[in-house]
Amino acid sequence: MSKPKAAVFASGTGSNFQAIMEQPDLACDIALLVSDQPVAKVIEKAKNNHVPTVIFQAKDYKDKSAYEEMLADKLIKAGVEWIFLAGYMRIVGETLLKKFEKRIVNIHPSLLPDFPGKDAIGEAFRAGVNKTGVTVHYIDAGIDTGPVIAQAEVAVLPDDTEETLKKRIQRAEHRLYPEVINHLLGK
Ligand code: GRF
Repeated sequence: MSKPKAAVFASGTGSNFQAIMEQPDLACDIALLVSDQPVAKVIEKAKNNHVPTVIFQAKDYKDKSAYEEMLADKLIKAGVEWIFLAGYMRIVGETLLKKFEKRIVNIHPSLLPDFPGKDAIGEAFRAGVNKTGVTVHYIDAGIDTGPVIAQAEVAVLPDDTEETLKKRIQRAEHRLYPEVINHLLGK
C-alpha cells in the first residue's frame, strides 16, 4: 500500500526537514518541499534528497490568499494530505487552514504556551528557566497557539550558553518530530 503524501514547509536551515527524511520507517512520503526563500539551505537538502521544491516569494503575489491558492493547487495536484511546518517563517492563512483542516502541524522550540514567537530559545535562556523544551502542535490562525500534540522537556544546565541549549533543543526536535509524524499517521 502506498504511503500518504506530505509536504514540508521551511524557510531556513532545514535540520528538521533532514531529520524527517532520515527517519527509516517514516509513515509518509515527503512529496514536496515548500519554501518562501529563494536561497535557503533547506532547498539544497531537498535537492540532495530528490524531493521536488516549490519556491515562491510573497512579494510576487497580491496577498496571502493569492500565494496560498497557488500553493494549495500544487499541493493538491501532488496528492499531499499533510503539511509539516519546520521553520516556515510565515503565518499560515485561512486559505490553507481551510483546505488542510487539522492537517497542518508545526514544531516550536519551547514548551508552549511559554515563549511563542521567533526567539523562543533566547527568551527562555534569558528568563533563567531551569527547563524548556519542544512542542509539536496543530496550527490555527494565531502564532504558535494551536492544540498541542506532543512535548519533550529539555533541561537548562547551569553552564549552558544559548548555543549549547539550542543544540540540545535541536536534538530533541529531531527525535520528536519524526516520531509524532508516525504517531499521527498511525504507525
Ligand atoms: C526549529 O527550531 C523549529 O522549532 C522552528 O524553526 C526552527 C527550524 O530549524 N519552528 P531548521 O530549519 O529545521 O534547522
